[in-house]
Parts: sequence; C-alpha cells; structure tokens
Amino acid sequence: TWTMESFIENTVAQIRQTVGENEQAVCALSGGVDSSVAAVLVHQAIGDRLTCIFVDHGLLRKNEAEQVMATLTRIFKMKIIKVDAAEEFLEKLAGVRDPEQKRKIIGAEFIRVFEREAAKLGKIDYLVQGTVYPDVIESGTATASVIKSHHNVGGLPEDLQFKLIEPLKFLFKDEVRRLGSELRIPEELLWRHPFPGPGLAIRILGEVTREKLAILREADAIFIEEIKKAGLYREIWQAFPVLLDLRTVGVMGDQRTYAYPIALRAITSDDGMTADWYRFPHEVLARIANRIVNEVPHVNRVVYDVTTKPPATIEWE
Ligand code: XMP
Repeated sequence: TWTMESFIENTVAQIRQTVGENEQAVCALSGGVDSSVAAVLVHQAIGDRLTCIFVDHGLLRKNEAEQVMATLTRIFKMKIIKVDAAEEFLEKLAGVRDPEQKRKIIGAEFIRVFEREAAKLGKIDYLVQGTVYPDVIESGTATASVIKSHHNVGGLPEDLQFKLIEPLKFLFKDEVRRLGSELRIPEELLWRHPFPGPGLAIRILGEVTREKLAILREADAIFIEEIKKAGLYREIWQAFPVLLDLRTVGVMGDQRTYAYPIALRAITSDDGMTADWYRFPHEVLARIANRIVNEVPHVNRVVYDVTTKPPATIEWE
C-alpha cells in the first residue's frame, strides 16, 4: 500500500536519477506550505545542488520572511538566497489602485527579480515548483505562488530554459501537510493558513503604501495571535484583516478621531472554492477588536465580514 515513507523514498530516488551530478536546480520559495515542502524534499535528494530563491516583495506578514528563513536554513541547512525587493515592488505599485493591475505588476516583477537572481547562479537546469494536484486540475486556486499562477495563466517566459520538477503534483493539501510532517517541517509552518502570492497588496484596498502595510501587519499579527490563543487556528481555513480605503469618525478620550476601519475576514472551506464565514465566539471577536483599535495606530473601527463565497470572494480584491 501507499505510505508517506515510500512516497518520500520513491520521489527522492526519482529526483536523484533525473538531476545529473553536474546539474543544478533552483526553487522559488514563497514561505507557503507547498513550496517549502517541495524544496525540503528536493533538498533531500540533491542537497546543495538545489538553491532556493526567496523573493521578499515587502508584502509579507509580520516576521514572516524571518520565520521561513530561520526554519529552512537552521533546521534543514538549505542554500537560500533571500532577495529584499520591497523597494522595487513598492515603487512599481505606487499610484496603482486596480486589483488586477496590482496582481499583474507583482507577478511580472516577481518573475523579473527571480530571473535576475537565478541568472547570477550560472547554469541552472531545473526549476522546482510546489504545484499541488488542485493546481493541476483547476489552475489559479488557493495557495498558488506568484510564479505558479503566472505559469498557470501564461506560462513562464519562453527563454526560461528550465525543466520542471513538481514533486507534489499528485498530492492534495492534507497529503502535502502529512508529507511535510514526515519530513520534520515544523507544524507551525505546515499549518499556516493559505496566503495569496500578491500578499498584503490585495488586502489593502486601493493604493499600497508603506504606512498602510505597517498598519495591516500589526492588525494581522494581533488577529492571528488571538485566534491561536483561543485554540481556533486550525478550524479556520483563512483569517486576515483588510484595510479599507476610507476613514470613519471615532472618539478617543475627548478627541475626535478620523481614521481607518479594519475589516476582519475568517472563513471555513474545504478547497477555497466555496466558503462560509466563521462563527467566532463573541468574546473572542470582542477581544480582537479591542486590541486592534487600542494597539494599532490610525485604526478606530473594526467590522466583521459575514458573507459567504459565493457571492463574495474570500479576498476583498
Ligand atoms: P478568492 O478571493 O478568489 O480566493 O475567493 C480563493 C483563494 O485564493 C487565494 N488567492 C490568491 N492566491 N494569488 C494567489 O496565489 C492570487 O492572486 C490570489 N487571489 C486569491 C485566496 O487567498 C484564497 O485562498
């Protein structure tokens, strides 16, 4: 019968057979579950002939880049190049308000930065991708990384001379997690909620600015911390705050405030295709709202999204 152990054994053997002694592979790490598990698996097979490139587009959550780097470099001793490209991405996003335009810019920029870094490595023969089975049957789903969704829609640029290694191609999400667990990837990384490739950029309605990113990061950290404290993290498919593109009136002490509202979204789902809003215990929601308005500057109101998908999508943009 099919076991995770035999899957690992077979896949590692197969990758070793495929990638020649003098060949090199490169992997785009997104910090998500799929690309991390794929990278660790390929690393087991070919060690330092795999180089990971982690493009930090500056649209990640608080401490996210650091956590992923710490896990994969310290525990697995993988060769990872972290590219701090936040400036470049923010420059390209300046003044852009349209959601699809944001996605296009981030996708194109990601490919550009990735190719530039990969070119510095010399001759690369293989590209490792964390494509999972749902991506194969239905492109553009849940956790598709930027490079993957780009691959799905238009294909990688023609001059990209890589052959693909996609070791998770026939696995579902829960199998990827079991595989990751077998590979000793920390639970915290494995059970992370899906996070969109364009990151916080599509959770800041309208223009993305440094100030708004800082606000959203703090709100997100509080929201997730309280969900974990309440022991609800694994029941929820995805939970995140959205920073609205408007301001509302509030009061603090005897001062009138005019500041941003944050919308909280938490949903349950099997595959991200349909979703129901999560029924939080009211006291948990109250604690989260209190902490956000008290601890996050420029926020004076919190609302909760009680819409299903369809007709709403999970993300707001
Ligand atoms: P929606 O908002 O379409 O989201 O209901 C379904 C799932 O897909 C994620 N999502 C994205 N993932 N690039 C991604 O890699 C994207 O542009 C993107 N947009 C949405 C979303 O977080 C949810 O899990």
